[in-house]
Amino acid sequence: MEIQELLYRQGFGTRRVCAGLVQQGYVSVEGVTLTDAAAEVDAREGLPFMVRGEAWAYHAKAYLMLHKPAGIECSQRPSAWPSVYTLLPAPLRQRPAKGGTDGVQAIGRLDQDTTGLLLLSDDGAFIHRMSSPKRHVPKVYEVQGVHDFTPDQMRRLCDGVVLDDDPRPVRAAAAERVDERHLRLTLTEGKYHQVKRMVAAVGNRVAGLHRSRIGGLALPADLAPGQWRWLDEGALALLRPA
Ligand code: URA
Repeated sequence: MEIQELLYRQGFGTRRVCAGLVQQGYVSVEGVTLTDAAAEVDAREGLPFMVRGEAWAYHAKAYLMLHKPAGIECSQRPSAWPSVYTLLPAPLRQRPAKGGTDGVQAIGRLDQDTTGLLLLSDDGAFIHRMSSPKRHVPKVYEVQGVHDFTPDQMRRLCDGVVLDDDPRPVRAAAAERVDERHLRLTLTEGKYHQVKRMVAAVGNRVAGLHRSRIGGLALPADLAPGQWRWLDEGALALLRPA
């Protein structure tokens, strides 16, 4: 692949801008500075390159996890809070749209005040697989209640509660009381405000919500709020059905 095309696909700007970056000597591949924008490079997964002194690696498709902090919206066009996309570096925000996606996008949404594990990708098939209601990918939420969680509330969350937009009951796949006001809830659907509405339906209220796991992938303890990282093969394997 020509280096200008590689940079374009990785989100470094228009093809013209990418050609300019190379011609001005801002780009090196595996330690070698290139000045010919049409120079062929081996676009293999993980190929190291630098742009303006910053290290990158080539990824044909982007698979990312992010520790969403509170006070951030998952929307591309947020209404009241900064967008989660502002937490990504410009090349990840600017990767060109392809294969039916609008570039890198969040897979499902967390509320503005919810923290925790969020996946992002520009692979339409992966986004569909991870968000399809048919696949029932389990998601684990750490729920802080305003009141103590009672045995009756726990039972009703697992037996199923009816929410206002659907007569069919929704049930938690698992509910574990970590302590009086801390519930670990596993859901396999993704309805709007589902945890908050389920908890309200059994007579409690959510004081704090954090997503700690999606499928087999737990939010890494060393990924601070606001930080993101690439999903490596090991992490992606944890997201595939067993
Ligand atoms: N359920 C909610 O109520 N809010 C979230 O952010 C996620 C799940």
